[in-house]
Amino acid sequence: ITAPVITIDGPSGAGKGTITQLVAKKLGWTLLDSGALYRLTALAAERANVALDDEQALSELALSLDVKFVPGDYGQPVNVLLDGNDVTRDIRTETCGNNASKVAPLPKVRAALLQRQRDFQQLPGLVADGRDMGTVVFPEASAKVYMTASAEERAERRYRQLKDKGEDVKIATLLSEIQERDARDTGRATAPLKPAEDAVVLDTTGVGIEEVLAQVLALVEKSS
Ligand code: C5P
Repeated sequence: ITAPVITIDGPSGAGKGTITQLVAKKLGWTLLDSGALYRLTALAAERANVALDDEQALSELALSLDVKFVPGDYGQPVNVLLDGNDVTRDIRTETCGNNASKVAPLPKVRAALLQRQRDFQQLPGLVADGRDMGTVVFPEASAKVYMTASAEERAERRYRQLKDKGEDVKIATLLSEIQERDARDTGRATAPLKPAEDAVVLDTTGVGIEEVLAQVLALVEKSS
């Protein structure tokens, strides 16, 4: 039997990461944070002095990434090891996220990461978070969610997160970065960000985490 998959796609800052963790925890399923793989590729490139437009070299890096995801306790993000070193914090910076969205349009990079993502499909099930989980990586998923929110609200959420971490940022800067990243993610030719035809679109603007979680779990229930 093949393991069921729930895909949660959407733009950055829509709350996919949090909801994916909560759903995976609730169901006791495996979690795939596919964005982390693009972030790791960008980080590895920076460390190896590979240019962010050198498609061939980047795809070789992506293919040979030595990555380990170590699940954390409830509510804690998963720890990520690159070549055995903890890079959990390094891949979460704004710079790394922006760099990830520059390597992500390259078809060879996406192809290099494809099988690695599909390998996460394991029993009893997988919750996969990203941009193309429902459209490209797991087209046969049992439930597909496309989670979005206004750019302003996403910038505000990000602002609060970063402030809690003690980072000094301007909300206007975050908003324009989010808009640029949206444009890159939706405008690219390969696996652009868009809802799968059979996805349920959840607009979380003004909706709390508990409510969004309940809506996603209700969808999962209906699909199983
Ligand atoms: O989700 P996260 O912000 O960690 O993703 C970082 C970047 O990686 C995104 O802006 C996007 O460009 C890229 N990405 C992607 N496909 C995915 C996940 C992430 O292109 N499935």
